[in-house]
Amino acid sequence: MANAEKTSYPKEKIRILFLENISDQAVKNFQQQGYTQVEKISKALTEEELIREIKDVHILGIRSKTQITAKVLEAAKKLQAIGCFCIGVNQVNLKAATKNGVTVFNAPYSNTRSVAELVIGLSIMLIRRIPDKNKAAHEGVWMKDAKGSFELRGKTLGIIGYGNIGSQVSVLAESLGMKVMFYDVETKLPLGNATDGKTLKEVLSKSDVITLHVPETSQTKNILNRNTIKQIKKGAIVINYARGEVVDLDELRKALVEGRIGGAAIDVFPVEPEKNGDRFQSPLQDLPNVILTPHIGGSTEEAQANIGEDVSIKLFNYLEKGITFGSHTVPALALPPQEGSHRILHIHNNVPGVLSAINTELSKYHINIVGQYLKTNDEIGYVVLDVDKRLSSKAITLLKEITHTIKVRLLY
Ligand SMILES: NC(=O)c1ccc[n+]([C@@H]2O[C@H](COP(=O)([O-])OP(=O)(O)OC[C@H]3O[C@@H](n4cnc5c(N)ncnc54)[C@H](O)[C@@H]3O)[C@@H](O)[C@H]2O)c1
Repeated sequence: MANAEKTSYPKEKIRILFLENISDQAVKNFQQQGYTQVEKISKALTEEELIREIKDVHILGIRSKTQITAKVLEAAKKLQAIGCFCIGVNQVNLKAATKNGVTVFNAPYSNTRSVAELVIGLSIMLIRRIPDKNKAAHEGVWMKDAKGSFELRGKTLGIIGYGNIGSQVSVLAESLGMKVMFYDVETKLPLGNATDGKTLKEVLSKSDVITLHVPETSQTKNILNRNTIKQIKKGAIVINYARGEVVDLDELRKALVEGRIGGAAIDVFPVEPEKNGDRFQSPLQDLPNVILTPHIGGSTEEAQANIGEDVSIKLFNYLEKGITFGSHTVPALALPPQEGSHRILHIHNNVPGVLSAINTELSKYHINIVGQYLKTNDEIGYVVLDVDKRLSSKAITLLKEITHTIKVRLLY
């Protein structure tokens, strides 16, 4: 946890609003850090409700249901940051948040272990043909048979996408005695004894279990299609716990029905129901040795707690040190602390001349700058200034008056 720093704006006056039943761990983190005004609402709010609620809020915590529109952001005059206590940030209008100088954080990698573990579990279930035996037992049929059931030990796991999740699956699979081969578009350092497959075809044709861990891009759309599915070793198992568009499910169905693929586990679909209880349809329903799950690859209590911890720390680092590392809107700066000075944050439209205007104004009043950091993106610039303590309030007044200023904040 970040150390408590003395902020110019008292922590007890910073209003924090958490929606959508964000984990209690996050609320506790904020209280332990000295923020007393933490309000928690269990549901998502509508645009109208949010516009009413958000006026005095400095920090907003949401999950994936609350839509943060441009109108909400216009009404959020005091808002400094939004913490998305989830994996994605699609629910936030990032362009509008950038324009308003609102920092947006999330926790993109907090559930990697949950996905990786489940992939191993699914591999064992499928290679032993447990779904069929389970179904038969539930239907009162005794199906004791070793034929077509194998151990994972000694088999080859092909990982498509050797990023955060893919590489964790690699480590777990080797601990079970599997051989690991991967394919990635980036050059990746193989972990343990894993080998870089060089081509997708090589990995597909040599693996007994194939697991996909790629992002959704134009290159990964239907990466498993009619042609590439034909390259898969006969009887191999396919697992997709990545994104719904990366496998052509109609082609996968054909391959399963014809016995070219021995089994599949799919968690993500091109179209997913909006809420629990909604009707769900897939071409893979009713097929033997197929496990279908409702996009729960990363859904565990541990992942929720990790998300609470990760996003809380990012918010503290921004509130108390000006660090924007991991931000999707305000340019990302990782900053060293500066003893004996006051730190001021200045967010402005990215037009030429703002930095020189800042320096000119401050030098007119002989305000000594002991540290200065700048990062820009297409829309905005973020400057952090460490200035002489005695003159920091004068500096704030000057900075607020500079043309193209969006937000100014004195940290400590
Ligand atoms: N089912 C779930 O609940 C769940 C949970 C978490 C993540 N995910 C999904 O899992 C996927 C992987 O997540 P991650 O955190 O490991 O991502 P990551 O960004 O760490 O890794 C993705 C890897 O894929 C590689 N890649 C990109 N394009 C490729 C291509 N065309 N061919 C081969 N490799 C390619 C990248 O270079 C990178 O190494 C993402 O799509 C993510 O959305 C699903």
